[in-house]
Amino acid sequence: MSTRPSSRVTDVAVHRAQPRIYVALDSADEARLRRLLADLDPASCGVKIGKEAFTALGPRVVEWARARGFAVFLDLKFHDIPNTVAQACRAAASLDVTLVNVHASGGRRMLEAAREAIPPGGNATALIAVTVLTSMADADLLEVGVRDGADEQVSRLARLTAATGLDGVVCSAREATAMRSLFSGPQGLVVTPGVRPAGSSQDDQRRVVTPGEALANGATSLVIGRPITAAESPARALEAIVSSL
Ligand code: C5P
Repeated sequence: MSTRPSSRVTDVAVHRAQPRIYVALDSADEARLRRLLADLDPASCGVKIGKEAFTALGPRVVEWARARGFAVFLDLKFHDIPNTVAQACRAAASLDVTLVNVHASGGRRMLEAAREAIPPGGNATALIAVTVLTSMADADLLEVGVRDGADEQVSRLARLTAATGLDGVVCSAREATAMRSLFSGPQGLVVTPGVRPAGSSQDDQRRVVTPGEALANGATSLVIGRPITAAESPARALEAIVSSL
């Protein structure tokens, strides 16, 4: 297995069949989700299904995506007692998804239980952690008892994530370089949202980088939502991004 980064969009050689781009399907509208799944090409991207779609419509959203051949990142960010998170991870992996995530702040025993439920290797589902939500600034952290600030908390939780054997982290592309040193193996995953093609609307994202910059910083997969899903032709918007890489 090669460890050399490839320019292919679906990078099977390097990252356990992780696509270079996951399109974030943030909608609870069945018809809209089905249109997006019909329009996008599973050879060019995977899809991220999060709490909005999953809570409204259930596991069948994953089934629709899998039936079309998409790799699925099930972004439910589990955070609970170890046994509950382990069972939730098992249930998620049984949906045949490529990527599942938990909150690193659930602690060592929770992370270990999640890892045990989704063992590493082969073509199994990969397991990554969120460190600090990018919506949390230093003042928000202080209010919940974290005095060290976001940067220190991100590196503390990333080290814990690596120490408990998870496959990687979700982080901003600006943190990707530092994260890559913790998850540097050929299976290490650094998944970054907050990506905007040059010249496109920032929406409510604040610190954005272009897809090319994110990959150059060490991101292994990019999560991109509205620049693709809100475009007149999502398929063409995706292809424009892919050809810019
Ligand atoms: O539409 P947009 O490209 O901003 O969508 C980005 C996706 O990534 C959304 O699903 C959002 O919830 C998610 N996300 C993010 N920032 C984070 C973590 C996740 O934007 N730090």
